[in-house]
Amino acid sequence: ILMNTMHTETTTERKKVIFSAIQPSGSITLGNYLGALKNWVALQDEFDCIFALADLHTITVRQEPAKFRRNIMEAYALLLACGIDVGKSLFFMQSHVHTHAELAWILNCYTQFGELSRMTQFKDKSAKHADNINAGLFTYPALMAADILLYQADLVPVGADQKQHLELTRNIAERFNGLYSPTFVVPDPYIPKNGARVMSLQDPTKKMSKSDENANGCIALLDKPEDIMRKFKRAVTDSDACVRYAEGKDGVNNLMGIYSAVTGRTFEEIEHEFEGKGYGDFKAAVGEAVVEHLRPIQERYADYSKNKDYLEQCYRASAEKALAISQRTLRKVMKKIGYIL
Ligand code: TYM
Repeated sequence: ILMNTMHTETTTERKKVIFSAIQPSGSITLGNYLGALKNWVALQDEFDCIFALADLHTITVRQEPAKFRRNIMEAYALLLACGIDVGKSLFFMQSHVHTHAELAWILNCYTQFGELSRMTQFKDKSAKHADNINAGLFTYPALMAADILLYQADLVPVGADQKQHLELTRNIAERFNGLYSPTFVVPDPYIPKNGARVMSLQDPTKKMSKSDENANGCIALLDKPEDIMRKFKRAVTDSDACVRYAEGKDGVNNLMGIYSAVTGRTFEEIEHEFEGKGYGDFKAAVGEAVVEHLRPIQERYADYSKNKDYLEQCYRASAEKALAISQRTLRKVMKKIGYIL
């Protein structure tokens, strides 16, 4: 069905196309889930969705081969467990579809040094990995633009931290369209109202991240229930002792955001629920809600991860279809530039 709507020139009403990707660089976090993955799952019924593990992006930071391989397979199984449905969507590994690297090279030549220098992720990561500021880390956004533009995506569901990269993608697309003729759809970011920026439980001024030095700050989707409870019980709050959303209450605001995202309750309802109660009760309730939300995902993960043959069938079939779709864009681009095809 997906192939039909994407490929038939005669289709009058084109379904909107969604593209997004995640790096398989370690444990997938509650931040990844609430900021992006939850939306990926939700968008599948309404749109033509294409998802990838951005395993080419991952080597901008040095990876240990055996661990990298495990992380990729774990991420693939875990995303299926979250609800990515290969009956509806494509879901593959970026490195299996060679057009990504090819278009990335081309787009490198339409991306300015100055633009890349302004990327906050580049500045953060080069500070963190000062011993390995490689060219890939710098040109990372051109590969990301290639990922998105290859599929003529209309919407890109991401967390708030990827917004700047999306803006650069739009600039690259508009630049190319302007130099030649309309070639790329200019994509819009799709950022959730709640959960767009899940913060560290230990330092709520920093985003929750796989690479957090303090493991207590970060919830992994595959963390054991007792670890999740412990991390929430130790979460940093404040001395105000009142569950309410307000400026300066970063820790409590973050916990309220997480609770709201997993229960569907509004901030007002949450304030009401915990009126007269202490942070101890509140933190335990957030922990329990997260444990219950993740329980079915963890159960499905246990099944998927046992079935390597099934996983392989899924990612190979998706990659084959993705290659066919993306080749159409790549050929169009190359022809416009003047290559002999
Ligand atoms: P990555 O792997 O760092 O993160 C995957 C997704 O999770 C979101 N996210 C968060 N959302 C809320 N709170 C947090 N603490 C949090 N941490 C991460 C990210 O915004 C992202 O949506 N460059 C991308 C991967 C990528 C991509 C693409 C994304 C490669 N090609 C094309 C979209 C389109 C990245 O490193 O995401």
